[in-house]
Amino acid sequence: MTANEPLTILVLGSGGREHAMALCAKQSLRCARLLVAPGNAGMPGERFNISADDVQGVVALCKAEHVDLVLVGPEAALAAGVVDALLAVDIRAFGPTQKLAQLESSKAFTRLLADELGIPSPRYGAFAKGQVNEAMHWWKTLDTKVVVKQSGLAGGKGVVVPVSAKETEMAIAGACAIGEVVIEECLRGPEVSLIAMCDGTDAVLLPIAQDHKRIAEGDLGLNTGGMGAYAPVETPYSSAELCATFIQPVLDYFVAQGTPYKGVLYAGLMLTPDGPRLLEYNCRFGDPEAQVLLSLLNTDLIEIVLACVAGTLRGISVKLKSASALAVVLVTANYPSDPRLGDVITGLGIEELQTNVFHGGTECREANIVTSSGRVVTVVGVGATLGVARDYAYKRAERISFAGSYFRRDIGWRAPAASLTSYSSTGVDIDEGNRAVELLKESVASTSTDKVLRGVGAFGGALDVSFLKEFDHPVLVASTDGVGTKVELASRTGRVRGTGHDIVNHCINDVLVQGAKPMFFLDYLASSRIKAELVAEVVAGMSAACADSGCVLLGGETAEMPGVYVPGAFDIAGTLVGVVERDQLLPRNGIAPGDVLIGLASSGPHTNGYSLLRKIFEWLPLEVAPPPLTRPLIDALLEPHRSYLQLLAPLLTDTRLKALVHITGGGLIENIPRVLPRGVSARVVLGSWPTPPLFALVEQLTSLGTDELYRTLNMGVGMVLIVGARDATTIQEMIAEESWLIGELCSSVGAADEVILQ
Ligand code: AMP
Ligand code: GLY
Repeated sequence: MTANEPLTILVLGSGGREHAMALCAKQSLRCARLLVAPGNAGMPGERFNISADDVQGVVALCKAEHVDLVLVGPEAALAAGVVDALLAVDIRAFGPTQKLAQLESSKAFTRLLADELGIPSPRYGAFAKGQVNEAMHWWKTLDTKVVVKQSGLAGGKGVVVPVSAKETEMAIAGACAIGEVVIEECLRGPEVSLIAMCDGTDAVLLPIAQDHKRIAEGDLGLNTGGMGAYAPVETPYSSAELCATFIQPVLDYFVAQGTPYKGVLYAGLMLTPDGPRLLEYNCRFGDPEAQVLLSLLNTDLIEIVLACVAGTLRGISVKLKSASALAVVLVTANYPSDPRLGDVITGLGIEELQTNVFHGGTECREANIVTSSGRVVTVVGVGATLGVARDYAYKRAERISFAGSYFRRDIGWRAPAASLTSYSSTGVDIDEGNRAVELLKESVASTSTDKVLRGVGAFGGALDVSFLKEFDHPVLVASTDGVGTKVELASRTGRVRGTGHDIVNHCINDVLVQGAKPMFFLDYLASSRIKAELVAEVVAGMSAACADSGCVLLGGETAEMPGVYVPGAFDIAGTLVGVVERDQLLPRNGIAPGDVLIGLASSGPHTNGYSLLRKIFEWLPLEVAPPPLTRPLIDALLEPHRSYLQLLAPLLTDTRLKALVHITGGGLIENIPRVLPRGVSARVVLGSWPTPPLFALVEQLTSLGTDELYRTLNMGVGMVLIVGARDATTIQEMIAEESWLIGELCSSVGAADEVILQ
């Protein structure tokens, strides 16, 4: 046979693992013809109904069909000597000989060998069939819990991890009645599968994988043949380290014995607090690890296998996808104890990128595919991250159904924790938070007075309010608010300082309309990720606004909430407390039909309507100024919410001022009625004040009705005063800026107080 001659390849076995191997063989440039025995309903290739461990049958098949290369899937075929028989008739076979396969078929053999080679292992005792007393005695001399194992092959089901002394006794008695027994100290820690393809002297290591052997989520319940797996697994140890400890010594030993080990060598390891320990060796790919690992392979599997068989592994480079893969195994009802078989399976045929569906216990019956053994199919997702791979796998798994089907929803559940090394790796950076506090201290200090007894850094702010004794009857007025989605524009453009003004001034206006002047403010700033400079900038805005109004910034909270806020987003809220003499509380009594409404200009949309505004201008670059705007759109949008405190302070004690209305969410329409007595309505005359350019542009662009528009935006009026008609001119003169008579109060026609736009 010449070097690159196309090959007839036979894959032995019938599980998901063998399906994955057969798929790789089928895709190999070296494969001219693919045979599988006995195969399943999904495997590619021609099926021959010969059991994988029927040594004579396999040899006869290979001769009859001129098979060049045999890939052996299951351990039973290796233990039966199928490789020996094939090599004897000059047929290349990938797998260890019967003698070497004892590494898997006899746990007692393996434990002795590991002792000899100094491979880190649990303490153990090996006992012949029937040596119950000796085994019990050994267990009782041990100071820890144990695991009881049948030494021979048991399809992953020969291991008992007893929880009580009684269960241990029963397990030992039960196992000793069956055959040779190994009892081991029970170790703790995550398990990993270290799988290498070996050519006698060298090994190619595949990514470290993790199997999930127990039937129930959270790794509870009976051991199974494997319910799912993923790779690569993050471990504290490098693959090279683990290979040097658990794989290479075995290869070296068998070379020295004159019987080089060719095939897969799989070390089942437990990563204990004292270091990795050997649980077992297997002589073949794991199932479902193979489905995962072969899905990550970027080199022709057959080329690797041929190099292993020829002893030339060193000459080839094995490439892996830089991706993660995760496998979910769908099993039958009552697996593993008493799998129910023969149920029709649907949803197998759908082809999807990034997923592979590998058949295991499936058979064709008439036009259907039905379940034929406990582990029915393995669904593998491949993705750039394990999370993506997991999503693919589960979405695909959901689409396959058969009566009583079951799969674990937690495959890979240890991975998120294993990749965490610090709190900051979750996205919460305490150091950055502390830096933010350092940066903002100075601006906050600018609002402080000698009345502040505890400020930034204390568990709570403390303010000496003995000055309230000067009041006849002090009333505290408090307001909490947020800036809303204006913050999105601010974070997008990096212009965040104004949002600090927004929140403080919004709160000031809310207490102002009850006649109160601000005393102190507390803020809350939350973001996906703290950026100290951004926090400091926002707080500088708050401090400046507080200082302008003689308000103390008494404290606050900076929260980092990755996964709650989208990356880059932040949100601000605040609480302001003000004080007013009880008899100066607004609104005053006596609001009546005939009173007039005086409007004061807003500085922009303030903090309302931004979800609408962001939508309206979604596709417009923020720096342009379409007419009638006379400045860049973003400047108009981010103009801070103004405070009316200084403008209106001289009026607060003037009894001619009957009420103030802060035009916030709900606009003129919903805010004016908040101060109206029953039976009184307001008439607002549209056009009685100039519409600022931004609102005019919005009016042009949208097809919102007038009511809708005036309910969402302030449309240029940020504060409304209610005064008696005859006082209007005097009051307007007392206001140090332009104001407009925008309407009047009238008697309600119906039952409801309302605002009529005319
Ligand atoms: P084995 O077939 O030897 O790998 O055992 C099957 C499963 O039993 C392992 O994957 C572990 O979950 C568990 N197991 C085996 N040996 C031990 C041990 N010494 N300590 C703790 N758990 C073990
Ligand atoms: N997945 C474990 C095994 O194949 O033994």
